[in-house]
Amino acid sequence: MNIIGPDALVFGVDDVAACSQYLTDYGLIPAGGGRFEALDGTAIVIAHKDSAELPPSLGSASMLRKTIYGVADQQTLSAIVDELARDREVRKLADGSIETQDDMGFALGFQVTVRKPLDLRAEAINAPGASVRRAINVPAVDENAEVRPRSLSHVVYFVPDTAKAEAFYCERLGFRCTDRLLGAGPFLRPGGTDDHHTLFMIQTPPFMKGCEHFTFHMGGPTEVMLAGTRFVNKGYQSFWGPGRHKMGSNWFWYFNSPLGCHVEYDADMDTHDESWVARQAPMSADASQLFLFQSREKWAPGGPPPPAAKG
Ligand SMILES: [Fe+2]
Repeated sequence: MNIIGPDALVFGVDDVAACSQYLTDYGLIPAGGGRFEALDGTAIVIAHKDSAELPPSLGSASMLRKTIYGVADQQTLSAIVDELARDREVRKLADGSIETQDDMGFALGFQVTVRKPLDLRAEAINAPGASVRRAINVPAVDENAEVRPRSLSHVVYFVPDTAKAEAFYCERLGFRCTDRLLGAGPFLRPGGTDDHHTLFMIQTPPFMKGCEHFTFHMGGPTEVMLAGTRFVNKGYQSFWGPGRHKMGSNWFWYFNSPLGCHVEYDADMDTHDESWVARQAPMSADASQLFLFQSREKWAPGGPPPPAAKG
């Protein structure tokens, strides 16, 4: 099935004003109606948790109410209806999308994708011996550069039964496992993208069921660092990163958020096709990251030592 990836994640939140400010400061573009968009039109959508428009809560502290997948065409949408209507209710909504739920009870939407094609450059670097490099006389650093999330990359679920959840996405919707962290869960890629994962699932007790984090792709590692540093300087709290994952190879930086989950910037994720053979490794700090840095205040030689160096 030609499912491309998540077009939007819908949250029912306590504090709409704080979440609106957070998503705007993160770099998404307010589009009205609680919708905050990346450059390609993928989005986070928020409403107050008591809104009658939202699918029901997962029954945990999670604020995620729905994951809306973008699919390539109407034919794929019809194939999903045919497949899932065999054993569950599939509703057709007025906007042309369909709504149902997975085997863990997560609300799912499917729609012909709203993703707009992007024509942007990736971060280019210079390296001795490399023929592909940044253009001559182009400085890499522009401290005033506008950096914005380009595309909704992936969502991570806490689920009580990763085997059952994986079977649903792979056997019913054609997702493939690209890699697996044993004791945590599988990285999954739907058929319409070559990204390493658009969905990762982590085994947890049932009361934790929900969204652990979501991530938007940036234009390169420098954009992850620049956007993350600006986010820190606005007062938001770094949770994990910056660093680089092993499986997927994506650069990452995670932040706490008022959406009841972590929110990540990422860049330069691996891509795969059908020839890729899934790897597996026991879940550990060494398995999940190649290296990890910690954000510090800027400092320069001269004058007194920085506060953290005293004592
Ligand atoms: Fe992630």
